[in-house]
Amino acid sequence: MKLDGSKILVTGGAGFIGSHLTERLLGMGASVTVYDRFDDFYAGKERNLAGVAEHPQFRLVKGDILDAEKLDSVMDGVDVVFHEAGQAGIGFSVKHPRQVNLVNVDGTLNVLSLARRHKVRRVVNASSSSIFGQPEYLPIDEAHPTNPTSPYGVSKLAAEQYGRAFYRVYGTDVVSLRYFSVYGPRGRPDQVIDKFTKSLMAGKSPIIQGDGSHTRDFTYVTDIVAANLAAAQCDEGLGGEVFNIGFGSRASVLELAEKLIRIIRPDGKISPTYVGEGPAEFPHTQASNRKAGEMLHWEPKVGLDEGLKMFVDWFNMSTTVKGEAR
Ligand SMILES: NC(=O)c1ccc[n+]([C@@H]2O[C@H](COP(=O)([O-])OP(=O)(O)OC[C@H]3O[C@@H](n4cnc5c(N)ncnc54)[C@H](O)[C@@H]3O)[C@@H](O)[C@H]2O)c1
Repeated sequence: MKLDGSKILVTGGAGFIGSHLTERLLGMGASVTVYDRFDDFYAGKERNLAGVAEHPQFRLVKGDILDAEKLDSVMDGVDVVFHEAGQAGIGFSVKHPRQVNLVNVDGTLNVLSLARRHKVRRVVNASSSSIFGQPEYLPIDEAHPTNPTSPYGVSKLAAEQYGRAFYRVYGTDVVSLRYFSVYGPRGRPDQVIDKFTKSLMAGKSPIIQGDGSHTRDFTYVTDIVAANLAAAQCDEGLGGEVFNIGFGSRASVLELAEKLIRIIRPDGKISPTYVGEGPAEFPHTQASNRKAGEMLHWEPKVGLDEGLKMFVDWFNMSTTVKGEAR
């Protein structure tokens, strides 16, 4: 499917990933409507869209995916929906499971129902590696059992399953991409790379929960955007398919802190501080991205060292040049 000249809806397009996707789609010649409620999970989302606000093919609609009537009003003639709106944050979900369920499950159900009614050609749904829970083996492929250990993981799995059911029952072409630990410019402030960078920039120790031995498959945001575009453009029917989208390697949180220390404080005078227990959810993640390579012809390009340098450069620019506190 050609995206140039197509009509796109990005739910959650004011967020971290959605705003990068929006920029890229506009650059490709698509018309993009962002539908976002600017939730108060973290502040500053207006800035995420500053670079595209004046673009002639960009439209911003402030709205909630739980408001089916309003969502209905932006679906007419849409070719592809990228469904990025969601309540992220595993920790947040432990405190607010109902709110997370409402947005991630009921909200997704609204998106799917309206996409069906409006005969949208494809929905690309943002899912998560959290659906897997404790890994039984690494790297995690699509056949790995799904045993989410947090309300967030349960909600993302339910949303993904609704996508599969919509394909089976109604023929709606829904494909889910399970992102693994996404980072990059405009990253969410609750994420570990953002937190470590902020501490180091302020001359403070990065604080590691537990002993830092838990590992994550950190994936740069432009690779996530590229996977979304590949999923939308693929001419083969992808209805009901799920793909693991991660760089395919893993680094421990301690290694991550050490890499950032080398970039930001190369004099080595700062070292990490350890507090409490490690994360309760799962000790390790690592994606097998083979299926995405074979079916979507997607492969990640940005390794962790390169990605961290680009992230720190952006962080420096957004705090010093613009004088904005993050
Ligand atoms: N960042 C990651 O590492 C990661 C990993 C796996 C999956 N995901 C998923 O990717 C998607 C995007 O994540 P992100 O990191 O960009 O998060 P984000 O919080 O930056 O973006 C989510 C956006 O959705 C909007 N939103 C939330 N609830 C809404 C509602 N009810 N109606 C309309 N808009 C609403 C928010 O205002 C926000 O702009 C989410 O679905 C998330 O669960 C993210």
